[in-house]
Amino acid sequence: MSLIKEPVVIHKGLDNVYVKESRICFIDGEASKLFYRGYSIEELAAHSTFEETAFLLIYGWLPTAVQLKQFISKLSANRPLEDGLLRLIREFPDRSDPMDVLRTAVSALGLYDSQPMTDENQLRIDKAIRILAKIPSIITAFDRVRNHKDPVTPKEQMTHAAEFLYMLTGNEPDPYDAHVMDVALILHAEHEMNASTFACTVTASTLADMYSVTTSGIGTLRGPLHGGANEAALRTVLDVGDPSKAESYVVDALAHKKRIMGFGHRVYKTWDPRYLILKGFAGELAARKGQSALFDTAVAIETSARKHLEGTPIFPNVDSYSGIVFHMLGIQTDLFTPIFAMSRTAGWTAHTIEYLENNRLIRPKALYMGKVGLPYIPIESRTGKVEE
Ligand code: ACO
Repeated sequence: MSLIKEPVVIHKGLDNVYVKESRICFIDGEASKLFYRGYSIEELAAHSTFEETAFLLIYGWLPTAVQLKQFISKLSANRPLEDGLLRLIREFPDRSDPMDVLRTAVSALGLYDSQPMTDENQLRIDKAIRILAKIPSIITAFDRVRNHKDPVTPKEQMTHAAEFLYMLTGNEPDPYDAHVMDVALILHAEHEMNASTFACTVTASTLADMYSVTTSGIGTLRGPLHGGANEAALRTVLDVGDPSKAESYVVDALAHKKRIMGFGHRVYKTWDPRYLILKGFAGELAARKGQSALFDTAVAIETSARKHLEGTPIFPNVDSYSGIVFHMLGIQTDLFTPIFAMSRTAGWTAHTIEYLENNRLIRPKALYMGKVGLPYIPIESRTGKVEE
């Protein structure tokens, strides 16, 4: 029984709780619509680049040619990693999960900033750009080191997406692959007040620095119900292995109350618009790379799941094909969530900058259901469990 006398509503999972006003992102989960700063995700995927989209999210408007050039130059200038950070990455155990590496390295990045705390908006933006620029370098450096290769020095004049693929492999990527990667980064860059963005906002509301904010976001994105679902969705497709086995997999999973990864969403109660775009690229990539069996298996799982989940609001989300796309780009599965973080840093930092324009410390409440006034028990008299 609660000690609080007035009626209390607990918003478990904070469903439908608004924590701030925002001009960054609008999702219409009933109509399958997603807008960044008013621009539809379809328009941005068709015409923008990740750099332009990141600028849009952080500053609030589409950059002029000069502004975009300056933004790209700042990203390029910030991409190389400090020697100390590279040494640290070389010291991590090879078996480390790349998300743990990223979380630790972004936290360490703050140590190489002589003034991580700031209350100036422009400096916050500079730190956001610094973190955004370094994350691809961190992910690729660790991946190369764990494979006993030297990290690749970033080249200038490449897009953020192409630079990532280049630093990963040491080879200039195929322009189509770089384009697909670029679109994938645009699609993951922002998604309103999801779990990781909320974690970032909570941290920002304490006036902590941008490195702490981003570290909170990475830690939250780590879980399989959020960022990790893309890896799980691909593993499912690889395990099922053949379109003919999709139906029995889905029937068995649902019968055992298992979730089909890449399906369902707290906000979308219909198709996730990002899923549709990625599915198109997954089909094209499968044809180009001779991986039709993989794509066909994913489609078979999707078809079967939709049939059995008919009448429910559980539809494919962005993760149903993102892992397949990254896999066909030759990227190792455990790098998918770090790539998600690499892109979402744009949204995380944009929300931080916006929230701090009108900050209020986030401090919700928990309804206490325990006892009070228990007499202190001497150690020799304790039962070793909750006292009745
Ligand atoms: N497969 C089968 N059933 C599902 C699925 C799924 N993927 N998702 C939800 N359900 C069912 C639940 O079992 C539950 O059924 P019940 O009422 O009979 O118990 C019902 O739908 C409601 O589920 P909730 O967990 O309450 O719905 P919520 O809105 O919290 O779920 C979530 C959202 C966590 C994303 C969920 O759909 C899920 O676990 N999906 C799989 C993981 C995934 O793909 N995550 C990626 C999300 S997108 C992103 O983060 C980028």
